[in-house]
Amino acid sequence: MVGLERQMQAHNLSLFPRPDIGDCFSEERRIVLHEGDTCDFLRNVPDNLATLIITSPPYNIGKEYESKTSIGAYLLRQEPVIDELVRILSAEGSLCWQVGNYVENSEVYPLDVFYYDIFKSRKLKLRNRIIWHFGHGLHASKRFSGRYETILWFTKSDKYTFNLDDVRVASKYPGKRHYKGSNRGKPSGNPLGKNPSDIWEFLAEEWERELWDIPNVKANHPEKTIHPCQFPIELVERCVLALTNEHDWVLDPYCGVGSALLAGLIHNRKVAGCDREPDYIEITKRRIQDYFDGALRKRPLGKPVYVATGREKISQIPREWTKEKSGDEW
Ligand SMILES: C[S@@+](CC[C@H](N)C(=O)[O-])C[C@H]1O[C@@H](n2cnc3c(N)ncnc32)[C@H](O)[C@@H]1O
Repeated sequence: MVGLERQMQAHNLSLFPRPDIGDCFSEERRIVLHEGDTCDFLRNVPDNLATLIITSPPYNIGKEYESKTSIGAYLLRQEPVIDELVRILSAEGSLCWQVGNYVENSEVYPLDVFYYDIFKSRKLKLRNRIIWHFGHGLHASKRFSGRYETILWFTKSDKYTFNLDDVRVASKYPGKRHYKGSNRGKPSGNPLGKNPSDIWEFLAEEWERELWDIPNVKANHPEKTIHPCQFPIELVERCVLALTNEHDWVLDPYCGVGSALLAGLIHNRKVAGCDREPDYIEITKRRIQDYFDGALRKRPLGKPVYVATGREKISQIPREWTKEKSGDEW
């Protein structure tokens, strides 16, 4: 293999296929990545194309890539984008809209509540309001600390792709049996595992913990880039597997550093994304290249969440908080 690798390098060939990334949308391509305004990009994407549209839009919270405005003006700005997305969504397709809260003068506006009406008025049907639970985050002092965001999963029709078996998770009690009826004594679960439910915490806790809480264990989550709020690839993978089939199109209109595109590529889907920040586009290209080179840094799908043993330094009650006095610090 090493010899083959050398020979291929000598002939300027690679063992890995080079990604062919198109800037403008074309159905002939497998990967489309556009730098620019999403509305301009979407205008050139055909009707009924995407089986999955998944995104985390700007939240209007003053991140480095957005200018904060009133909630009304922010939502009005999103409407033309949403009209394009509904047009592009295929009849059996799904749209997953991941948002948190917008906060103004300490008042919380749950963005999914506002977005629900916008999608509903365009005849989309809500299938789940998924809670993405975070174990850690900023500590509020005048309200309870926010620890979740939501993903609104809508479909365009009642006949939508849903591959539950592809995303089942290990059951906690696989040995459970029916205790009455004709199936009495038979296993009551599914040998492929259980439905993952609409509360997703497996990723977020570890994501946050590794990013913020245990820098001495791991300075960064393996996927972390300069983007302030990127998706864990694993979160999108679950949607890709459940809501699309191979070779379907996955579209992220605000793709940031390309996490949704990577999730699609990993599972042999065609992918399209757009972002107006050149740095994020560059990182997306690099990550796609890394994927094709077999070098993408990624947390494995379904890896169990780390459970603290209580022995870690950060699990210990600080010495300063204990009654016991030690040395001359007291
Ligand atoms: C919440 S982030 C998405 C992050 C992404 N999910 C990831 O995993 O990297 C929103 C993104 O929308 C982009 N954006 C904001 N307004 C845009 C617009 N009008 N057109 C294209 N991209 C835009 C920002 O640059 C930012 O990267």
